[in-house]
Amino acid sequence: EVVEAGGQVLLPGFVDLHTHLREPGREDTETIESGSAAAALGGYTAVFAMANTSPVADSVVITDHVWRRGQEVGLVDVHPVGAVTVGLAGKQLAEMATMASGVGKVKMFSDDGHCVDDPLIMRRALEYSSSLGVLIAQHAEEPRLTVGAVAHEGPTAARLGLAGWPRAAEESIVARDALLARDAGARVHICHASTAGTVELMKWARGQGISITAEVTPHHLLLDDSRLETYDAVNKVNPPLRERSDVEALRKGLAEGVIDCVATDHAPHAEQDKCCEFSAARPGMLGLETALAIVAQTMVEPGLLDWRGVAKVMSERPAEIVGLTDQGRPIAVGEPANLTLVDPQREWTVRGPELASIAANTPFEAMTFAARVTTTLLRGRVTVRDGQVQR
Ligand code: NCD
Ligand code: ZN
Ligand code: ZN
Ligand code: ZN
Repeated sequence: EVVEAGGQVLLPGFVDLHTHLREPGREDTETIESGSAAAALGGYTAVFAMANTSPVADSVVITDHVWRRGQEVGLVDVHPVGAVTVGLAGKQLAEMATMASGVGKVKMFSDDGHCVDDPLIMRRALEYSSSLGVLIAQHAEEPRLTVGAVAHEGPTAARLGLAGWPRAAEESIVARDALLARDAGARVHICHASTAGTVELMKWARGQGISITAEVTPHHLLLDDSRLETYDAVNKVNPPLRERSDVEALRKGLAEGVIDCVATDHAPHAEQDKCCEFSAARPGMLGLETALAIVAQTMVEPGLLDWRGVAKVMSERPAEIVGLTDQGRPIAVGEPANLTLVDPQREWTVRGPELASIAANTPFEAMTFAARVTTTLLRGRVTVRDGQVQR
């Protein structure tokens, strides 16, 4: 098969450590099939599907289903994330070993959507994960510091009466888990880092030789809490959009490698869950199809990363962090390729309903970006050509 690549940038297929595909349970907002299409269009060849489905992915029955269904669809490798605790935010560790040895070979565990806030459970989870050689990914949010279901903080949010998730809720867990990982001799991964303080804590922990990694989302690299002025719940997300100074610190942290990688936290929600009052709306936004465009605009355009750096934060580091050996690296001659082609100058405008996801909750609606993924190859098969999914 011949792929025309003139003037484009060739990158290793992207790896997303943080995707919510709502199957099983909320197939009205996303399925493994629709989410796989969105991922391929975004240039991804592997995604990690979070465990907060319904039922929760806390057993090998669910994690194996997710893997098998992804393979059946065949557009992207859908790696299941297993729950750390039974039912998420539970008091009992899930059977990680069973999930790790299933067909879906679970490599990452997370209660994302909830914090593993009990320090003893987190400590045991880290010790156990270390003996199994799997990764724990922490949604860093101390729930006793978070007010109700309202998920915003900062001067704008406070003025608007939306205060809810302070920096300390994130940073106290980042600091705690760094220390727990150190003592357990384990690795921990921080989901969706959102504050300048988290960047500082990451620097400190790395300096101590602690095995801690972190991701940042495209929306936290681009948007700040001034978006809340409209009270539009499309901007409601966990962790909340923060201040411009946080956005700058996150960009700098990513450029310097203190934040390891970009992860989308792609979170589809039904229209009725996003068009209600801000306090009642669900947190989360779509991310797979817009990630590369935002990384190009926020990191490449200002000169913070070159395209080599994009390969690193979108593909190589995430693959390394989770121990994927078939992704995120250059291929040898004759090896099936996981590749993405990006046209850095193919201007496009985001339209929620045109995205492959079933849900349409994008905060980037009507925004125009310069860079676009044109082609994706999964193990040598073209999954996207000229921006069209090849089924
Ligand atoms: C996520 C979701 O909708 O599942 N929401 C979000 O705002 N990020 C859960 C999560 O990542 O915490
Ligand atoms: Zn989360
Ligand atoms: Zn919670
Ligand atoms: Zn999430």
